[in-house]
Amino acid sequence: MGNASSKNNGKALGLLLEKVYRGGGYDFRDYKRGTVTRRLQRRLYATGATSYEEYTHFLESHPEEYKNLADDLTIKVSGFFRSSQTFQQVARLVLPRLVAHKIKRGERSLSLWSAACARGEEPYSIAIMLADFLGSQLAEFDISIHASDINRQALAEAEAGIYLPKEVESLPPPTLANHFSRNGEGYTVNSNIRHMVSFSYFDLTLATPPPFTAIDCAFCCNILIYLQRQLQEKVLNLVYDSLTTPGYLVLGEVETPPDTLRSRLECINAKAKIYKKV
Ligand SMILES: C[S@@+](CC[C@H](N)C(=O)[O-])C[C@H]1O[C@@H](n2cnc3c(N)ncnc32)[C@H](O)[C@@H]1O
Repeated sequence: MGNASSKNNGKALGLLLEKVYRGGGYDFRDYKRGTVTRRLQRRLYATGATSYEEYTHFLESHPEEYKNLADDLTIKVSGFFRSSQTFQQVARLVLPRLVAHKIKRGERSLSLWSAACARGEEPYSIAIMLADFLGSQLAEFDISIHASDINRQALAEAEAGIYLPKEVESLPPPTLANHFSRNGEGYTVNSNIRHMVSFSYFDLTLATPPPFTAIDCAFCCNILIYLQRQLQEKVLNLVYDSLTTPGYLVLGEVETPPDTLRSRLECINAKAKIYKKV
């Protein structure tokens, strides 16, 4: 099994990914090939296929395998306040401006988007950050945090909002005490935080515009790194177009925005890659 990729050339892989797109609706054609081939090996192993061709045939007779493949090809590793620096800078540089802007216009609604939310740690961290920032003013605001992903397993776990002790251990004790409840062996996100977040399936790579518009602040973190440059630009354009003006884009420390987008973004913080739509 381990040498399946050596038996198969790039053409066979290209044909397989084309099949996955046409048959399953998942577009991994422009993901970085290294990650895709490594992860595909798992599915070949799980299904007993010894080559990409065999796996392609397996997909034809087992359409439920498309979902397993999509779940395995996507990397759902995340964490609460995964990049603490990024969240600190959003709380310091974005939230005060955003809230002041809303108050000045007599508005009390805030709309945010976690564009690749994995198991929910990112959108719940955004909700916690907002709750802590707004304090007693929280009840005056109508907050919608849209959280989307293509990993259905991750979305189901995110919706449940239950985490293992090791998944919350990096949180400061007051954050854990204020926003989580002990639930048997695990911790559940408190309902006031959960009610701010709504989860849905949305594929960033398809040309369909997102159902979320007029977004005040979009988080698109640790997803572009898996995509080839051209697809990164397509995804970022889509996220950019969902923003209102002024709207903020948070890419986090790992990502690098393509040059083509830089002229349309004002850099607010270079390290955390926080931008404002201009
Ligand atoms: C490494 S996690 C990042 C989670 C979170 N944003 C963070 O920074 O911790 C990458 C997520 O991107 C999701 N993903 C991959 N391709 C996607 C696509 N085309 N549309 C939406 N989400 C996608 C994966 O399912 C996975 O949950």
